[in-house]
Amino acid sequence: MKDKSPIILALDTPDVSSVMAIIESTLDSISIYKIGLEFFLAHGKPGVKSIQDRFADIDIFLDLKLHDIPNTVAGASASIAELQPRFLTVHASGGNEMVRAAVLQLPSTSVTAVTVLTSLNEQELGHLGLPRDPAELAISLGRRAIEAGSTSIVCSPLEAATLRRALGESVTIITPGVRPENSAKEDQNRVMTPHEAIAQGANYDVIGRPITHAPDPKEAAKKIRNSLL
Ligand code: C5P
Repeated sequence: MKDKSPIILALDTPDVSSVMAIIESTLDSISIYKIGLEFFLAHGKPGVKSIQDRFADIDIFLDLKLHDIPNTVAGASASIAELQPRFLTVHASGGNEMVRAAVLQLPSTSVTAVTVLTSLNEQELGHLGLPRDPAELAISLGRRAIEAGSTSIVCSPLEAATLRRALGESVTIITPGVRPENSAKEDQNRVMTPHEAIAQGANYDVIGRPITHAPDPKEAAKKIRNSLL
């Protein structure tokens, strides 16, 4: 099925009825929904299945950010395989073998490598003994994950153009940390508009509160979708 827009809607709540209501109200504009730890740890696979049963035409982005030894990640990936998420996140910093362990268990899922968390600034990267330049670090993490079989990566919109140049056209680039013009930044610091992120080379924008907390989520989703056409 063709995507209705390049928006992935972040459903950051453990509340099942809110999740169902927000999907229902945004279906005209969005076809990929991101389920993260907040929901998954509360409701597990049955919770995800209840969403899939009710909305047969949506795709699930399962944002579990797996990070462990390869054997454990293989087992965790096998445990969620029956959900057939379109995307599953793993931390690229878990290394080549770990990423490959997920890829081997999930042939029909795009194993999506999280590069550098946007919550880590240069100073914190330095304290952790990592390269201070997030773009430099994101390139090496992204390259390695792709070699291991990842087909998508998550990065800041500020690094999207650099990563697109470094990693080529075939990788799917997904950027959170976007905010429509005139909307509250909340805890996101370094933001771009959804349109700017796509112009920088991203394929998808992950957007949460600007839609889920809007007075009229249906309208908010439609407005952002139209800004991306
Ligand atoms: O509400 P908001 O639009 O800020 O939601 C953004 C989503 O993207 C959240 O689910 C958040 O966990 C996720 N995310 C992020 N920054 C990252 C990685 C993921 O904001 N670096």
